[in-house]
Amino acid sequence: MRDDLKIGVVGATGVVGREVLAALYAQDVPAERVRAFGSERSKGLDVEYGEDSLEVEQASAEAFRGLGLVLLATPAEASRRLAPLAQAAGAWVVDASNAFRGDGAVPLVLPGFNTDVLAATFKGRVVCLPGAITTAAVHVVEPLRTVFGVVRAQVTAMMAVSSAGVRGVAELEKQTADLLSGREPEPQALPNRVGFNLVPQVGGFMVNSPWTEEEGGWTLEAARLFATKGDAPVIAGTAVQVPTFYGHGLTVSVQLKKAAPAEQVRAALKTHRALKVLDVPGERVYPMPMLVTSDPAVHVGRVRSFPQAPEWVTLFAAVDNAGRGAALNLVEAGLRLAERPA
Ligand SMILES: NC(=O)c1ccc[n+]([C@@H]2O[C@H](COP(=O)([O-])OP(=O)(O)OC[C@H]3O[C@@H](n4cnc5c(N)ncnc54)[C@H](OP(=O)(O)O)[C@@H]3O)[C@@H](O)[C@H]2O)c1
Repeated sequence: MRDDLKIGVVGATGVVGREVLAALYAQDVPAERVRAFGSERSKGLDVEYGEDSLEVEQASAEAFRGLGLVLLATPAEASRRLAPLAQAAGAWVVDASNAFRGDGAVPLVLPGFNTDVLAATFKGRVVCLPGAITTAAVHVVEPLRTVFGVVRAQVTAMMAVSSAGVRGVAELEKQTADLLSGREPEPQALPNRVGFNLVPQVGGFMVNSPWTEEEGGWTLEAARLFATKGDAPVIAGTAVQVPTFYGHGLTVSVQLKKAAPAEQVRAALKTHRALKVLDVPGERVYPMPMLVTSDPAVHVGRVRSFPQAPEWVTLFAAVDNAGRGAALNLVEAGLRLAERPA
């Protein structure tokens, strides 16, 4: 990391922003090199930075002066406004929202998969990241793609309420307390009651489409990412909001280009550094959200194949949505980006 690099973390009071600060601290980035930003609402609050704390500043063009790197852990509408301001201030920018994922002019980077795009020529100073489910699904599919070839992966994602940020977490806390006290809660941040329930809707629906934006995002982001490898496996499926707080779980059914027994699939998964294989079902060892939080690896296990359809393999994965699925990607991409010549 450059000695003079100053980093702005925008969205520092949020689920992802707090993880970004923890990741920077874990990498021994001194507090003097990090500034925390939020909206007008959180101006003046303190956020934890290891043993220290940082005072939250209101994000603005003026406030971004002097920063070499800005990490945006903000809602898409805020990212759309703030990314150009940070870029104009001379900073490299990485955005975790879906504001730019559909914009072919903004590189989409998944660290550990296509990190090379950060060293390539591109216009502007902004790059964006895929979401947490795409992060997990692409890392799971990648070693299978390189060894067997992949036609498609069908995903059912069980998404923790922290996918909806601090409001999602607060909503499940309140709904659980209400329901245990015999009160029927009124959904606010989420589209339906998630307490003791499963909701097959995460985020809004795409215009004139039966797919949610979350689901459509997986297909779009995976297509962009695999295109950087000259390949086109399709990732599609259903996003379900579940009553857990942190850590997403996903079943992934993969159609390979050639038949492969589960043992060979497991061996291929073990070669990918982004993955940790947990697959001893007889000893109750398999991925679970409670095991994955704070682990930078995507967990994968329950690998099964079927004699009746030998080119299909089904497995279960888990990812720390706020950590691996967002904050670590922000920090790894950002620090790499900041090595580019100004
Ligand atoms: N949570 C996940 O699992 C996850 C995974 C991958 C990607 N993402 C993406 O990461 C982003 C952040 O998600 P999150 O879960 O951390 O949300 P969150 O908990 O709701 O936090 C949002 C943060 O953005 C700040 N913010 C909102 N409007 C702002 C504005 N106009 N100017 C400056 N700061 C503003 C908020 O600050 P205030 O306190 O001032 O409101 C807060 O710090 C989203 O785009 C989300 O889609 C999230």
